[in-house]
Amino acid sequence: MNDNRKEIIRLLRQSEGNPVSGQDIGEKLGISRAMVWKYVRNLRKEGYDIRSSPKTGYILDAYPDRIDPDELKAILKTSLIGTDVRYYSDLESTNNTAREIATRSPEGTVVIAETQRKGRGRMGTEWQSIPGGIWLSLILKPSVPLDNVSKITLVAGIAVTNTLRNAGIDARIKWPNDVLVRGRKICGILTEVSAEVEKVDYVILGIGINANVKLVDFREDIRLNSTSISNEIGKVINRTAFIASLLYELEQQYIMFKTRKFTDIIDEWINLSDTIGKEVKIKTPNKLIEGKAVGITENGAIVVLDRNNERQEIIAGNCRY
Ligand code: BTN
Repeated sequence: MNDNRKEIIRLLRQSEGNPVSGQDIGEKLGISRAMVWKYVRNLRKEGYDIRSSPKTGYILDAYPDRIDPDELKAILKTSLIGTDVRYYSDLESTNNTAREIATRSPEGTVVIAETQRKGRGRMGTEWQSIPGGIWLSLILKPSVPLDNVSKITLVAGIAVTNTLRNAGIDARIKWPNDVLVRGRKICGILTEVSAEVEKVDYVILGIGINANVKLVDFREDIRLNSTSISNEIGKVINRTAFIASLLYELEQQYIMFKTRKFTDIIDEWINLSDTIGKEVKIKTPNKLIEGKAVGITENGAIVVLDRNNERQEIIAGNCRY
């Protein structure tokens, strides 16, 4: 966005509903009042609800709910995650774009889109990516063997859950990697990896969070089992600030993954888990396992005590309860 437009929005937001005169704005920006008026007209076309009164000046009543990549860069407190932010209004899928640029991009690059035309979920499902959500993918380049990647998915689940909990939402992790609130899905994670002979080239960590989405806009089958941040807390959140907190949490967890014993991470995952202790039905490509979820292994496999009291370790599957 043009600097003058950004500055006008900043001045109006800063005045918190008090009028700011065209004269004052013009003087601060070094432009005429007529130019200020021209900018205001264009901002209105973009969805900024700016009231104007010839006597007092301009008041910003409402602004469009958009992620602001410049603001994000300014408030980020990370040193690796988010070093490069690629922001798009619309993409096929942030995971696809992240994959396309992965080899020539630094570790920590984040791809964000307001909407996705072909958002992808786990097991080949469609991920409905309507306006108001947080749809992003992170490029990671860990020097770890391939079978360690599922641990990164676990720590990402912890990071999302902690960020939601810090925002006052009682989020819990459903194995393998959904985040639920009151039993309804608020976030899904899709991890994709490129590796050669057991050595990881890069990992694409795709995270979808129903932030400010309106549940009525979801397809009915999705709506019934979903919730959103705004639905839980009763107001629209600042997605830019939320993403900054999420990237911070992801960085903390990624550092932990690289420096701490994995058992510490498992303990934290279990503390936040919605699944452990529950009777579950897990469908894998070749069987259905029913029983009680009792733990998680170092590889992220869930441990289920089946109906014959036999211990089953399941690395991937569709879990219901
Ligand atoms: C799931 O629960 O099935 C995983 C959903 C993952 C959705 C996110 S949104 C950002 C990224 N881009 C995609 O196409 N998918 C992931």
